[in-house]
Amino acid sequence: MKIAFFDSGMGGLSVLHHARRVLPHEEFLFYADEAHVPYGTKTRAEVEAFVAEAFAFLVRQGVDAIVVACNTATSVAVPAMRARYDLPIIGMEPAAKKALALDGNRRVLVVATPITIAGAKLETLIERVDKEHLVDRLALPELVTFAERQEFDSPAVRAYLQRELAPYPLEAYSAIVLGCTHFNYFKAALREVVPPSVRFVDGNEGTVNELVRRLRARGELAQAGTSATTYYYSGRRVTAPQELARIERYLRQLDRVYAL
Ligand code: DGL
Repeated sequence: MKIAFFDSGMGGLSVLHHARRVLPHEEFLFYADEAHVPYGTKTRAEVEAFVAEAFAFLVRQGVDAIVVACNTATSVAVPAMRARYDLPIIGMEPAAKKALALDGNRRVLVVATPITIAGAKLETLIERVDKEHLVDRLALPELVTFAERQEFDSPAVRAYLQRELAPYPLEAYSAIVLGCTHFNYFKAALREVVPPSVRFVDGNEGTVNELVRRLRARGELAQAGTSATTYYYSGRRVTAPQELARIERYLRQLDRVYAL
């Protein structure tokens, strides 16, 4: 099996990082659209075109399944891609349902990109799961910029988080939903600025569970063998040692924040 993970940039590595623990025998292809990141502050039409280009490339590589490890791209373009291609396409959406199930009384804050926050997909999800009207929504686009330059826990990151979260009385919240895969890198910084009672909920586990469920149903999961990952930046294979070292630094940060 050759499983593609696609994101606007490096956020999707957090989903791949989890998937590699769950599926140790598969072949992975990670595609970061580094030529066009960020998606979340662009128009939906622009993102649609970027996703279509990436999918065409991935299908040409002969992948067997595509995980859209990007809430923004899922919100904009997954239905069109499912209509176009006949292979398993697993999307992502903010894990609001999971967060509400953890507590059900206190509030939940969903943070994501501007496109995801304003999108009809999230609106529909919240209408469906948030019967008690406990969910608030906040766009944090700067975190994508910080993540792309590997600035995970600087004074500027903390000041940004503090400023943006200031209007929310976080003692009244049970969880923050990380509704953008880039936000996973900031769990340590967030831990410093939010009360310890607030949990972080991401969609990585749910997405990988769905991938496993889909592939298992087709009897397509490998039982043995080694795993390998190839990396692409917008259709260009990443082979330069300094670029691979950059990817390694993201993976190390994900190791650090995995249990937070
Ligand atoms: N990582 C993406 C997400 O999960 C979007 C980041 C961006 O390009 O704005 O929504």
